[in-house]
Amino acid sequence: MVPGVTQEIRDRGGVAAARRLRPRRSRARRRSPGPVRRGANASAGRSEKSHAGLAAQRRRRGQPRISPSPCAGPHRQGLRRVKVNGVPHPAPVDPRRLLSDHLRHDLGLTGTHVGCEHGVCGCCTVLFDGAPIRSCLILAVQAEGHEVMTIEGLAVPDGPLHPVQQAFHECHGLQCGFCTPGFVLSVVGLLAEHPHPTPEQVDEGISGNLCRCTGYASIRRAVARAAELSKQ
Ligand code: FES
Ligand code: FES
Repeated sequence: MVPGVTQEIRDRGGVAAARRLRPRRSRARRRSPGPVRRGANASAGRSEKSHAGLAAQRRRRGQPRISPSPCAGPHRQGLRRVKVNGVPHPAPVDPRRLLSDHLRHDLGLTGTHVGCEHGVCGCCTVLFDGAPIRSCLILAVQAEGHEVMTIEGLAVPDGPLHPVQQAFHECHGLQCGFCTPGFVLSVVGLLAEHPHPTPEQVDEGISGNLCRCTGYASIRRAVARAAELSKQ
């Protein structure tokens, strides 16, 4: 026994005190690790097995496979439709499809251009229930039950140009034209909100669209001209 402890035992009176003074082992060290628990793994194995069994049962009965996600699969076709340029279209099958990709690749509306694909350039602007939005920033399924207008829906085929298109044409508001569908739809949205926009409102209205060719002066003139033409 440790000499200091022996002395204290003597001072306090005997073995009972020694038992009290014996350093205690921590509960954690005293507890034995025990047998390895198998319950969790075993039940996981059972549940995997039962899922496989259920799938086999469904196959034997000729029942269709259960879709892995409630959001995926052709059954989505039965959900609400997306109205594009006044025409109802089936909802997109892939729930991760961007609206811009859905318009271009599924519906063939390639007038919606795609530049940056992360909401900076504004090339992909469309009207969503009449308001300009960037179609590369929303999923096509989010448009279910809403009305989308692309540049193709602005004027009837073989009919006169829309006043905003006419104004861009008259004022040379475009050069390469890559940004133009986005600008035109932003201006349509702007004039719907402010039929007589101030220069500040014009700048604000087209601030989400980038043009690398025109320098914006002719686009600003086109907006003013579009406001005039819309009055007539
Ligand atoms: S492609 Fe959508 S903002 Fe650039
Ligand atoms: S006209 Fe070329 S990017 Fe605008």
